[in-house]
Amino acid sequence: MSTLACRRLVFRRPFLSAPPSPSSLSVLGQSILTDDYTNVTPAILSKLPIRLWEKHGHPLCTLRSLVESHFSDFASLSAPSPLVTPAQNFDVLSFPPDHPGRARSDSYYLNRSLMLRTHASTHQVESFAKEHDRWLLTADVYRRDEIDASHYPVFHQMEGGRVFGTDTTSLKILEEENRALEEVLERSPIHIVDAPHYSPTNPVQAGHSADAAALVSRSLKLSLNGLMLKLFGGASNKDEPLQVRWIEAEFPFTSPSFEVEVFFRGKWLEILGSGVVLQSTLDRANVPGKIGWAFGLGLERIAMILFSIPDIRLFWTSDERFHSQFSPNAISTFVPYSKYPAASRDISFWLGAGTHDNDVYDVVRDVVGDVAEDVVVLDRFTHPKTGRRSATFRITYRSMERSLVGSEVSAMQGRVRDTLIGRLGVEMR
Ligand code: DAH
Repeated sequence: MSTLACRRLVFRRPFLSAPPSPSSLSVLGQSILTDDYTNVTPAILSKLPIRLWEKHGHPLCTLRSLVESHFSDFASLSAPSPLVTPAQNFDVLSFPPDHPGRARSDSYYLNRSLMLRTHASTHQVESFAKEHDRWLLTADVYRRDEIDASHYPVFHQMEGGRVFGTDTTSLKILEEENRALEEVLERSPIHIVDAPHYSPTNPVQAGHSADAAALVSRSLKLSLNGLMLKLFGGASNKDEPLQVRWIEAEFPFTSPSFEVEVFFRGKWLEILGSGVVLQSTLDRANVPGKIGWAFGLGLERIAMILFSIPDIRLFWTSDERFHSQFSPNAISTFVPYSKYPAASRDISFWLGAGTHDNDVYDVVRDVVGDVAEDVVVLDRFTHPKTGRRSATFRITYRSMERSLVGSEVSAMQGRVRDTLIGRLGVEMR
């Protein structure tokens, strides 16, 4: 599949110079003015209309349904457009002004005031504001990153949230619900290593009572332990229970915060982030007198494990040999249809002062699409006198659909080189 097929993106002007600076982009039917902050590429924008999580039978859609069936009484919200303001993505969730996620090297910007959401938590405020006391939202999220079998600049997250009344009766009901869930889990083949519901380093928020925060943390953990059992428990039995561990974490928009890891096929896997929602988020959503939890999980990470999908690019393939192996709402083991030979080529150049490795990766994705399997930095050098930086990148090309011939690979490498020069202004060594 070629990611170069650029469906909705219309550059009104041709690329004239580096960096490409068309005056406007057409994205999801919207015309958007570009500026000096613009760093989205055609390869990225071509993904926006695809909405893999809605494609019946696609592993990501099946996994979404599985999570939804666990949270069967939660409202399932449809993902809004991934175009959000930095305020929506960061500020309303109390990210500090200097948070690294805001950097142009880490996130995709359409212009200074519009970006592609980097996580599904972006929609917490509006989802709580819709007066749902429990909801799930699945979304495509975008982050600039390296190129290898488990990193792709577009991936999917499911965000879930739930709020509770803080009056004595509501908390009493919650306590009973917790007890009932606990009893079920105690009889199930799951071994949980817990973290304290809160601690000095993972504190209860000012304004929350310790009792209410502990009840909400416990509810969060019980709900997600049940989900882990549903997703990963199939292979476990009484003699070998599923192992889940809770770890104290830190997120700008929750306190206390936790991560969950699951021991699966010999490894601890990080599955999700979660916590007690910051009261400022609920205040912005205008739901007074409530306390809540939220979690966010990465769908690709989990689907790769459950369906034995070895390379994250496969989620985007249109190859029937991939899709015919899956049926709706069933977890099955993917059998790789073939592995075509890989070809690697090295390229060494002097980087411009502000050039980031992620700029190089975006050029590679843009020029050769998903044929780029892996890009690694082999060597870096800083000139002792001039301070100029150079690097050697090794690009591994492998099509998932057919064998590439050497001349094709060389031609792709040539186009990558020309685009690095034209767009990033690098100088070949
Ligand atoms: N948004 C976080 C991420 O992308 C995940 C997350 C952490 C979601 C904590 C949450 C949460 O709802 O409470 O890494």
